[in-house]
Amino acid sequence: MNLPIKVLGIGHYVPSKIVTNHDMEKIVETSDEWITSRTGIKERRKVTFEKTHDMAFLASKEAIKKAKINVQEIDLIICATITENKKTPSVANLVGGMLGIENNLMSFDINAACTGFIYALEIASSLIQEKKFRKALVIGAETITNILNYEDRNTCILFGDGAGAMVIEKGANKNLGYFYNSSRPDMNQVLDIGDKIKMDGRKVFLFAVDIIEKSINQVLKQSKMKLEDFDNVIPHQANERIISAVAKSMQVDKDFFFTNLQKYGNTSAASIPIALSEYKASNPKSSRLILVGFGGGFTFGAAIIEV
Ligand code: COA
Repeated sequence: MNLPIKVLGIGHYVPSKIVTNHDMEKIVETSDEWITSRTGIKERRKVTFEKTHDMAFLASKEAIKKAKINVQEIDLIICATITENKKTPSVANLVGGMLGIENNLMSFDINAACTGFIYALEIASSLIQEKKFRKALVIGAETITNILNYEDRNTCILFGDGAGAMVIEKGANKNLGYFYNSSRPDMNQVLDIGDKIKMDGRKVFLFAVDIIEKSINQVLKQSKMKLEDFDNVIPHQANERIISAVAKSMQVDKDFFFTNLQKYGNTSAASIPIALSEYKASNPKSSRLILVGFGGGFTFGAAIIEV
């Protein structure tokens, strides 16, 4: 069963402070050449004054402006994050307050690591089907540089901060709103973010290449569509080499997979909505897309949407 949705607006916010690979060379023993060749990342953003909810709010404001709706029509906010600055109020709840929403509002955060945005989108899409909710705001926001271990060169070079947001309502197009979200708890030691990040990079890499293709195939099967029926894939922005390997295995051009990780690194749950927002800005015409992500847990998922 699919959950047809209409995307009304997408926005994003990234901090203005840029940390280049050359800046990272001053912090850990690494090089621009090593980082670029292993990951494709050239620079990332880092918060200065911003909290997670500040970025979530600014991304949401842009999404609402693009959606051209009255903010009071929003009655559901879900934020995917693993780096909220407070346990409660949730980021979603804080954003509701900053937006000045006065009506009934269900607001909560979810944690599905880097797959969080696709999980949140499925939950929101499901909740709006019964028309109990009119318009949902779905956010991915992370201040992940605050929890990095700057003595671990394996991980600290990979991540950056930012937020992306999307306004949706129930849609009529039955070809849209297919979701596949799942996890492999038996693999949860491969990427463990507690006080510190522990990661078996090679295992993550190999599993990601495999599960991205499988997740895409799951939504293609559900929708009875083919890869050729889509304009592009918007993948989680973790590593250019992971994306290239998937493209090669699926026998499509690498550019079929949109990337902006060169500028932002891996922004965890924010990576897909930031990429979507930039994609939409440069592709204003309607596009049919597959979103696909993976992350700690080990979580993974894919979705079919039109923006
Ligand atoms: N700069 C320079 N050298 C580094 C380095 C850095 N920042 N980080 C690691 N190295 C070294 C290692 O210590 C190792 O040296 P050694 O052989 O002397 O021990 C060498 O580079 C090779 O390391 P290796 O782990 O084989 O590199 P890799 O090709 O697997 O690339 C990652 C490492 C982390 C870039 C890659 O595994 C990866 O991207 N994995 C996925 C991670 C990910 O996406 N996580 C988020 C999921 S949401």
